Amino acid sequence: MSGPVASAGSQLDHVMAIMEAAFDPAWGEAWNRRQVSDALTMPNTHAFVVNDAGELLDFAASPQTNATGFLLTRYAPGEAELLLIGVRPEMRGRGLGERLIAVLRDHARSHGAERIFLEMRENNPAAELYRKVGFEPIGRRRAYYLLADGTRMDAITYALSL
Ligand SMILES: CC(C)(COP(=O)(O)OP(=O)(O)OC[C@H]1O[C@@H](n2cnc3c(N)ncnc32)[C@H](O)[C@@H]1OP(=O)(O)O)[C@@H](O)C(=O)NCCC(=O)NCCS
Repeated sequence: MSGPVASAGSQLDHVMAIMEAAFDPAWGEAWNRRQVSDALTMPNTHAFVVNDAGELLDFAASPQTNATGFLLTRYAPGEAELLLIGVRPEMRGRGLGERLIAVLRDHARSHGAERIFLEMRENNPAAELYRKVGFEPIGRRRAYYLLADGTRMDAITYALSL
């Protein structure tokens, strides 16, 4: 498990440090640095990063310290997609996941989105968080994910109306 970025770092540095700490490699869900940096060059893709207190870190102003959670999102006309969300394991259960989704909700609304979509493997405990904040399951894609051990798992699509 990787620790926090030692000194003030870029948004990409922090997202990758949290990614490494938060995602279990067994599920193959984590993105690598190249995937994240390529995604963030697209004008419709955004990352939100919060500290332990749930405060949004402003990387446009300067490098930041103490990042604890991140959310990656991509916009299409009228909708946002929640691509990834991660919180450091030692800081879970304190509302930071909910806080990140609240940040996305506000941002998506102010950018004209009417719905937020997401897709997750069916046994991900994050489903509890999604349901708590109002996402509803709207579809299933059978055998959508191929896991490292060769087995397949369904994807569940969730939507939240804004
Ligand atoms: C999913 C994740 C981001 C949640 O972060 P978090 O900061 O612990 O979430 P919160 O503290 O805001 O949780 C809010 C609510 O969601 C539910 N919840 C969150 N994680 C849960 C879990 N693992 N099991 C059951 N319920 C959970 C709880 O109802 C919780 O409310 P409560 O504290 O009143 O019981 C975090 O567990 C994580 O990083 N997981 C690994 C990465 C991942 O799988 N991401 C999702 C796919 S991209």
